[in-house]
Amino acid sequence: MVQVAVAGVGGWGKNLARNYFQIPDCSLKFICDLDQRKLDQMRGLVPGTRTTSRFEDLLKDPDLDAIVIATPASTHYALCKAALRAGKDVYVEKPFVLFAIQAQELIKIAEDERRILMVGHLLLYHPVVGRIKQMVDSNELGDIYYVYNQRVNLGTVRGDENALWSFAPHDISVILHLLGLDPTDVTARGQSYLQPGIEDVVFVTLNFNQRSMAHIHISWLDPHKIRKLTIVGSKKMVVFDDLEGTEKLRIYDKSAEHTTDYNTFAEYITIRFGDIIIPHVKVDEPLRLECQHFLDCVRERRRPLSDGRDGLRVVKVLEAAQRSLEKNGAPVPIAPTF
Ligand SMILES: NC(=O)c1ccc[n+]([C@@H]2O[C@H](COP(=O)([O-])OP(=O)(O)OC[C@H]3O[C@@H](n4cnc5c(N)ncnc54)[C@H](O)[C@@H]3O)[C@@H](O)[C@H]2O)c1
Repeated sequence: MVQVAVAGVGGWGKNLARNYFQIPDCSLKFICDLDQRKLDQMRGLVPGTRTTSRFEDLLKDPDLDAIVIATPASTHYALCKAALRAGKDVYVEKPFVLFAIQAQELIKIAEDERRILMVGHLLLYHPVVGRIKQMVDSNELGDIYYVYNQRVNLGTVRGDENALWSFAPHDISVILHLLGLDPTDVTARGQSYLQPGIEDVVFVTLNFNQRSMAHIHISWLDPHKIRKLTIVGSKKMVVFDDLEGTEKLRIYDKSAEHTTDYNTFAEYITIRFGDIIIPHVKVDEPLRLECQHFLDCVRERRRPLSDGRDGLRVVKVLEAAQRSLEKNGAPVPIAPTF
């Protein structure tokens, strides 16, 4: 039985605590939060679980296997480092850390200490993303020309980070996962309307090998609620709309092709209109699947799908996008991650 603690039981951490409490073969031993009221509110949801406001209590418990960190991003580096050094396996929420150099250090510590390190890139555990990944890898979509994603809402405005760091880790992780590539450069433009220096809306463009490109639009100041990913391939196109109830995935059997047998320019490119297919994908709760994956990795000493290196790739893109934002949209190159 894996013994787990959840540190930070605020807006998101309480969902993680609920899942670890409910999953069989897992014991939620502690919840930890600096805010005593948060701990009091959780008591009824996770009865029998010990509560503490001291992170050190988790580190000192020799029977505790793993620590799940769902505190604000600025605290991730120090808490992860302390947990790994204390010999605990670690799951840390997105964004992994604020600087690539911190990510590299944590990856090294995890390797030296032979600890599991997983980053909460939730959408990689979404069954629809899994299905799209199979289509990309089997070349069903052909060459991926471009991808765009909108994650906008009139929603929770954060004071500790901008919309880029708050939302884009999800989109970046999915795009890198699907393309299996790191971008060569990033541009980002955004604007702060509600709080000085904290962008409410950001438009990010990632370039891959001078060929594929991806565009991400994120905002917490928008009249629409949209979470939609579109992928345009040379053979087929795909739309993943996460706000749809059951019809989240649409496959458009459409493309534009060059022909060899043509007389005029109009005949040179043929547009093909095929069927639109809505496959049934069983959508189990991605968060439950993500928690289960972490526990499986802890038990079987396996490398998580969203391991530290995956976290590093995403942080490098975020860092570059932040720099581009500060340089008014100038392209910022990204060195490959090995
Ligand atoms: N995967 C997702 O879809 C998703 C969704 C929302 C938030 N998140 C991530 O989860 C993390 C937390 O976000 P949130 O919205 O729950 O924030 P929050 O502010 O609601 O909660 C954070 C909690 O951490 C506690 N805390 C701060 N420092 C601590 C410390 N040193 N030890 C113990 N507790 C401490 C705070 O008291 C607070 O209760 C962030 O990294 C955020 O990006 C992920």
